[in-house]
Amino acid sequence: MKFFVDTAEIDAIRELNDLGMVDGVTTNPSLIMKSGRDIREVTKEICEMVDGPVSAETVALDAEGMINEGRKLAEIAPNITIKVPLTWDGLKACKVLSGDGRMVNVTLCFSANQALLAAKAGATFISPFIGRLDDIHLTGMDLIQDIRTIYDNYGFETQILAASIRSVNHVQEAALIGADVMTAPPEVIKKLASHPLTDKGLEAFLADWKKTGQSIV
Ligand code: G3P
Repeated sequence: MKFFVDTAEIDAIRELNDLGMVDGVTTNPSLIMKSGRDIREVTKEICEMVDGPVSAETVALDAEGMINEGRKLAEIAPNITIKVPLTWDGLKACKVLSGDGRMVNVTLCFSANQALLAAKAGATFISPFIGRLDDIHLTGMDLIQDIRTIYDNYGFETQILAASIRSVNHVQEAALIGADVMTAPPEVIKKLASHPLTDKGLEAFLADWKKTGQSIV
């Protein structure tokens, strides 16, 4: 499973990237707003740091506007992935931009039918939002399973990018189902290393070690 980081915070990306945990980055207008940075500047910095795809999102609502913005964003770096929303216009923009040879991430996907359309429009990535479905008392993970089944039934190459990941359980379940990629905030990725039994075991080892009176260095 590829790990993308869902943030526009440079320091957080760097820490994970130095550990080899970053296969790509996803941003959106809310994350750019949160960073307080200029979209071009911060996206360029991220693209220079990270080898993999870096999603930058368009904000136009019509296909022509999305295509113009997408082409402009693609000038930032060769590893830009243009992110467009899953609307009818977004699908038109996806078709044109993927026809240009660009990577396209179709975002705000909430149904398997939407995912089917994105694959047919040539999307490189489809972003189903798990957490936001859970927020309205549906089971977001069911959508990942449905899309996996449909894409495998027909051999679609569009990669399932599990998004709106809020917990370590989301990561594990998406990996078990076979999502190609997951994107999560840095704090969720760091939490994957934690387990209460690890902490408890470490505490016991250190207490016993103290009793030996030894030191390693
Ligand atoms: O990748 C999409 C993500 O940024 C949305 O996450 O937590 O705002 O639903 P969230």
